[in-house]
Amino acid sequence: MKSILDYETVSLIDEDDAIEIIDQTKLPGTIELIRLRTGEEIWNAIYLLQVRGAPAIGVAAGFGLYILMKHSKAASYEEFMKELREKSDYLNSSRPTAVNLSWALKRMESHVVKTADEMGIKENASGADFDINTLIEAMRDESERIKAEDIDVCRRIGENGLTLIKDGFGLLTHCNAGQLCACKYGTATAPMYLAHEKGYNIKVYCDETRPLLQGARLTAFELHSAGIDTTLLCDNMSASLMKSGAIDAIFVGCDRVAANGDAANKIGTSVVATVAKRYNIPFYVCAPTSTIDISTKTGADINIEQRKPEEVTEMWYKERMAPEGVKVYNPAFDVTDNELITGIVTEYGILRAPYDVSISKLFQNK
Ligand code: MRU
Repeated sequence: MKSILDYETVSLIDEDDAIEIIDQTKLPGTIELIRLRTGEEIWNAIYLLQVRGAPAIGVAAGFGLYILMKHSKAASYEEFMKELREKSDYLNSSRPTAVNLSWALKRMESHVVKTADEMGIKENASGADFDINTLIEAMRDESERIKAEDIDVCRRIGENGLTLIKDGFGLLTHCNAGQLCACKYGTATAPMYLAHEKGYNIKVYCDETRPLLQGARLTAFELHSAGIDTTLLCDNMSASLMKSGAIDAIFVGCDRVAANGDAANKIGTSVVATVAKRYNIPFYVCAPTSTIDISTKTGADINIEQRKPEEVTEMWYKERMAPEGVKVYNPAFDVTDNELITGIVTEYGILRAPYDVSISKLFQNK
């Protein structure tokens, strides 16, 4: 029987002018693939978390921009770029925190500019001097490259993270930084999948991750489907679990790492990191370099998405579980201070404090 891991999180169905995604809002009960064709459909799918997790959002945005430009009627290069930037800005407005969204969109735009430059297309080119088809093909190739690189990068994060795990380890994770947030392996789960492949007997504990339950619905689902020893807990149980000695290391993903190493990830991550410090448990953030944003100086500069109160008061319940009219605090992410982070596992190796130095070195050398 097909497992959730046999499905592609995001793929391009070029012949149907569509992106195909697993609708993650239906998991784990129903595995349903849906196709997105219009800007609104793509925007909504990202906003509603039908496709979610920093790397997968980036891949969907790359495919999305290509699909939206594929049948462009622009008569000149200038018109084409104007349309591309408008569509890119629109997709970029769907969620603010994961930098992979703007990273992928900027990368698509830069690739078009570079291709035009190589072909000698001038700013004001039109008619026979403006070869729109080559630019559109270049967009398709770049969007497929973003996806292929994501798989390679996650595998390398897994290999680097595996050096931090020993046979018999108990591991804790928060939210879903698994295959469902990327294209394969995930980020925080990549070392877990590789440890499991190697025959290590690991136990993985998943925080359920209120309010949208990415830990319960997605991480527990995919790890359990992979045959990994998986235990689910409510978010408020992790301190007692850490105190009990069951956890040897913690791996989480992230949505944006600032230049000083502060890392934004799913709300509740900083609680886990703070408690981990209390019990001397190493706390690792797994981040492709596409998630490190050196233009954001510190965590205080990260735009934290605020979401609807209903996610806290009603969603998942048969009936509302909070008094009508009560105020609700519902940020989707929090920032873990760099001093709580033992290491940032990237595709190029494990960064250690002081992060301003190790991050800047990484960007100089890569
Ligand atoms: O709101 P979500 O589900 O998109 O949040 C996802 C997370 O916080 C993940 O941990 C993060 O994107 C890292 S995925 C490698």
